[in-house]
Amino acid sequence: MVIHQTSYRSGIGLCDLSQHFALLAELLEGKSVDLKIVEKEDLPYELEWFNDLDFWGQYERIEQASKAEFEKDFEKPHRVKDFFIQKKDGTKVGILRVFALVPSMQDVFGLEIGYSLLAEERGKGYCTEAVNILLDFLFLSSTVFRIQAHADVRNKASQRVLEKTGFQKEGTIRKGYFARGERRDSFIYSILRDEWKEPRILEDPSQL
Ligand SMILES: CC(C)(COP(=O)(O)OP(=O)(O)OC[C@H]1O[C@@H](n2cnc3c(N)ncnc32)[C@H](O)[C@@H]1OP(=O)(O)O)[C@@H](O)C(=O)NCCC(=O)NCCS
Repeated sequence: MVIHQTSYRSGIGLCDLSQHFALLAELLEGKSVDLKIVEKEDLPYELEWFNDLDFWGQYERIEQASKAEFEKDFEKPHRVKDFFIQKKDGTKVGILRVFALVPSMQDVFGLEIGYSLLAEERGKGYCTEAVNILLDFLFLSSTVFRIQAHADVRNKASQRVLEKTGFQKEGTIRKGYFARGERRDSFIYSILRDEWKEPRILEDPSQL
């Protein structure tokens, strides 16, 4: 995997994701898939997926946005950064999202990730590889200590992705989110820097 034009171990905090990801000019390259940061010109494409209920599967919260709302959100100081998961020929197959968590009792900020793939592209290992690429990037390029994710208790595919990429299940968030007409239970998972241990896909940055 190659990260273009990125300053490693810069010590940058991740509170403002836009500032951090400004360092990332092009692609995060994996073996079967790459991650491409969503730019302003990609918004119409992403909006089509965003407003497509099938894209988000049965377990994600349903949100709808107009083009104007979507563009306005993109211009806000960024607490969210989206990547397209794309095949080596550039075909986009899904979205991987990073959220900066607002510090509460934590004395350090944390990050959360979420993802979704086109229905016909699921089950091919793409999400697992994409998460591994992103973990490598986030742990290598920042001082972040903890990255977390939620998965509906019935969402076995998402739970499996998190297990395969080294996340630990911490517990159940009871009726913590509302989707498709009901309050739902989800599992919360996290991976700590010590558990990530070393890059899985990204080459050692000192070798670059
Ligand atoms: C969750 C999702 C992103 C996973 O993407 P993916 O590219 O299919 O994931 P991968 O192929 O890397 O891995 C999926 C794993 O889940 C397993 N899996 C899939 N469906 C499963 C099920 N019903 N029960 C048990 N395991 C299941 C697969 O066998 C695979 O594990 P394996 O490699 O050990 O065989 C995809 O299913 C999706 O887009 N779902 C809809 C949106 C969604 O739910 N997003 C997550 C919100 S938290």
